[in-house]
Amino acid sequence: MWKGRFQTETSNLVQRYGESISYDWRLYAYDIQGSIAQAAALQDAGIINKTEERAIVRGLKDIQTEIETGDFKFRTSLEDIHMNIESALTEKIGAPGAKLHTARSRNDQVALDTRLYCREETKRIFERVSTLQNALVTVAVNFPEAVVPGYTHLQRGQPVLFAHHLLAYVEMLERDKGRLKDSYKRINVMPLGSGALAGSTIILNRKLVADKLGFPAITQNSMDAVSDRDYIAELLFDISLIGVHLSRLSEDVILWASAEFGFIELSDAHTTGSSLMPQKKNPDVAELTRGKSGRLIGNLMSLLTTIKGLPMTYNRDLQEDKEPLFDSIDTIKLALEVFAEMMAVSKVREERTLAAASDPFLLATDLADYLVLRKVPFRDAHEITGKLTAYSIQEKRDFPDMTLDEFQQFSDAFESDVLKVLDLKTALKARKSVGAPSPANVRRQITSWQNKLKHSTM
Ligand code: ARG
Repeated sequence: MWKGRFQTETSNLVQRYGESISYDWRLYAYDIQGSIAQAAALQDAGIINKTEERAIVRGLKDIQTEIETGDFKFRTSLEDIHMNIESALTEKIGAPGAKLHTARSRNDQVALDTRLYCREETKRIFERVSTLQNALVTVAVNFPEAVVPGYTHLQRGQPVLFAHHLLAYVEMLERDKGRLKDSYKRINVMPLGSGALAGSTIILNRKLVADKLGFPAITQNSMDAVSDRDYIAELLFDISLIGVHLSRLSEDVILWASAEFGFIELSDAHTTGSSLMPQKKNPDVAELTRGKSGRLIGNLMSLLTTIKGLPMTYNRDLQEDKEPLFDSIDTIKLALEVFAEMMAVSKVREERTLAAASDPFLLATDLADYLVLRKVPFRDAHEITGKLTAYSIQEKRDFPDMTLDEFQQFSDAFESDVLKVLDLKTALKARKSVGAPSPANVRRQITSWQNKLKHSTM
């Protein structure tokens, strides 16, 4: 493609080192879509006539079919998807094919292709995040009454509905969708026409290209346009954070599925056995996802590190953006899909969650609140309840088994109604401030998510 200036062929080793066709072939549909729009702009500017434009479009469509049926021969010597397609086109249709690259460089071409790709994939990821949210809501609906201890420091803290715990992840994922939507705005800008770095003396109608490809905006600085990979970095960050959220959910699932917790039962279809220990049922999906989230972060770091040292404008280093991008997109899509499938059919073992949530110490805060409502300053109430806890441990008697006399040894603010506070149902019902897990609140949240998720589109 650059034969004019060169006297010897590129060394085989350099071809192997520099090729990207082994992975960027995946951009073929976007490359063809972009070239069809480019042909329209060339026709509009009078560089090619209508017959030539038609020949180009037909040729490109044939190439697309050949790629999709496996009949296309990708050549490493042609480096990347752009040159493979252009060369095949010219072989097919001759002169019009050789006119297609007028006022275009692979620098603005690859920027266009990756933007088209990111645009499409951002939508696909968004949909899969919604699917996982739906799966979590389904579990909440299936087990609306399951109570679990809520933890801080992985120590039992206060009782919550299991549904509330699940909805915490639905919230996280909703923020992820907000980030995808926001990044999408900056992906959705059309760079073609920026040329190698300084546009072209041949003026094409960039608005026409943008309209044909459905871009609402056009890049405004040719140098920035060919060197910008911020939109990929942003998307890789969004994906990393989704990965981090999935990793935290994985960690919860792994704990819940352990014999120690026993809060959930994963289906046989989503667990694996051990080749040695016949009793094992391993939560591999969650472990893999926790592991893969590391790769997603690695991919983000890889791209940021590539970009940070680059002078303006396009540098070949930028070819290194694609493998991390493809990998992160493939990985997160699959992770979201498999997690949604696994969560939707997981079962809560309510006898186990109830046993854990019936730990009377979970209501120590409620005892302190009881005293506060009887005018004891919170700090004093906290100390009194702390002493009561120590007493309960020492005497090996739970709060509900203690007599009013015993309570009153610690504070005369305790009255006969204190035992009512020590009821799990009462305690949950009382947590009715906005965002807290009273059953009525959680029910409302479930309904609100069900409605919201019905209309959740990018
Ligand atoms: N394969 C290249 C990439 O992915 C396309 C752009 C090449 N541009 C160039 N001037 N060599 O970045």
